[in-house]
Amino acid sequence: MDPSDDVPWWHTAVIYQIYPRSFADGDGDGIGDLPGLLEHLPHLVDLGIDALWLSPVYPSPMADFGYDVADHCAIDPVFGTLADFDALVAAAHGAGLKVVLDYVPNHTSDRHPWFVEARRSVDSPRRDHYVWRDPAPGGGPPNNWRAAFGDEPAWTLDEASGQYYLHLFLPEQPDLNWDEPRVVEEMSDVLRFWMARGVDGFRADVVHCIGKGPELPDAPDELAGLPACIFDHGPGTHECLRHLRRVVDGDEPGAHLLLGETAVFDRDQQLSYLGLGDELHLAFNFLILHAQWDAAVWRHELELAYAGHDRVGAWPTWVLSNHDLPRHVTRYGSEARARAAAVTLLTLRGTPFLYQGEELGLADAVVPPERVLDPGGRDGCRAPIPWTATDDGGWGPRAWLPMPPDAAAHSVAAEAGVPTSMLEHYRRLLALRRATPALQRGAIELLDAPTGVLRWRRSLEHPATGPAVVEVAVNFTGDAVADAVSAGTVLGGTVPGGSATLDRAGRTLGPDEARVVALH
Ligand code: NOJ
Repeated sequence: MDPSDDVPWWHTAVIYQIYPRSFADGDGDGIGDLPGLLEHLPHLVDLGIDALWLSPVYPSPMADFGYDVADHCAIDPVFGTLADFDALVAAAHGAGLKVVLDYVPNHTSDRHPWFVEARRSVDSPRRDHYVWRDPAPGGGPPNNWRAAFGDEPAWTLDEASGQYYLHLFLPEQPDLNWDEPRVVEEMSDVLRFWMARGVDGFRADVVHCIGKGPELPDAPDELAGLPACIFDHGPGTHECLRHLRRVVDGDEPGAHLLLGETAVFDRDQQLSYLGLGDELHLAFNFLILHAQWDAAVWRHELELAYAGHDRVGAWPTWVLSNHDLPRHVTRYGSEARARAAAVTLLTLRGTPFLYQGEELGLADAVVPPERVLDPGGRDGCRAPIPWTATDDGGWGPRAWLPMPPDAAAHSVAAEAGVPTSMLEHYRRLLALRRATPALQRGAIELLDAPTGVLRWRRSLEHPATGPAVVEVAVNFTGDAVADAVSAGTVLGGTVPGGSATLDRAGRTLGPDEARVVALH
């Protein structure tokens, strides 16, 4: 029997990120909402994902479009009500989908009642919920940390008290002080609140920043000028993570996922947040998001990522796009490459994360200066999902952001049922992964391959269904490459069945072709 049969749900799941403002609009105000999402749940079921992760839907002034939370235990009216949320969870569960919520522990909105109270006076009972410091001896911010957006100091002076407060992001996002036990307790209660409502886990926003400790030393010269949200803030974070893990595990370890948005550039630092199996269950690996589409670069990245995860005994994650970066069609410069990238993402060992709209092959919207909304310049990848085959994708003239390029042609309506579409490509890949335990849980071995090709094998002893050994070969170049893949039974790839133009039993990969082959 396969020893990995008994694995937590997130090892075999494909998790799909919903950016709720842009997914589906139920009430016609131009902003996506929970009723819209509920109505379009069948799209996700037909796609074949296993879990959805919702970017924040909590009450928020929307300075950072929901990542500035003003109440952790409610729903912003723009998205709907708690009853809408409960209905969504019930429907998702009924359809066999898990629901993961964004959890924003590093900061709140400056309109959160805790900050409003904390700001009232230095003697406020909630003052220590946030990080306050006197000005530096010569005046000015207490240390040299930079905020994430706009190359500004990570400190804002509160004129009334003469003290600065810390914000690793916008001034409207003051950092919580996790050295204050009541913060730890109240933020743990937030997790308990949502678990009691049925959610299956959390994606914890910039969770590697929470345990900063009281000292807040200046960044060393080599880091000065970089945003402080990428720093290793020391042992405090690990202590907090062990605590959060205990809360999320409760008395049912394996039921609820704690996934960390470990957006750092140092691999060992990223891996450190997995602890000794006692911190995060999964940590996002964003290094791949910054890798160019090149076989040698990817091979190097995969080797290091697998070696690192094996060393700490952790399960990897893979992601190509999210709401913070240009979409991969835009980054890689072509839909053909994006198709090959999708084969890669969905056949590697590790949990794949999809970002809404990548299954339609969306590129970033072109946002004219007068429509720019996000202080971080990320509007393009947040454009609304086109549902109908019309220029407005069914959103009408009030859509909060411009539609992506060629919205009608990339809509769900235009792509569904068309074998050559990106949507059907994703559906086939997701069905293949689900039907092939060797792809979900098998070991991975990177193989030698001609220049420009990446090739690996997945193997699982005695799988309940499907082949025990599967080979994947991806041509990262725009030229055909001979002797690039083993002969075997073709299970899938970038060339849809029935319309192959190449000798599919042969060992040549066409330009930008990826192929999945069963060997045994
Ligand atoms: C990471 C989120 O993904 C991003 O959208 C947000 O702006 C920052 N964290 C701050 O919460």
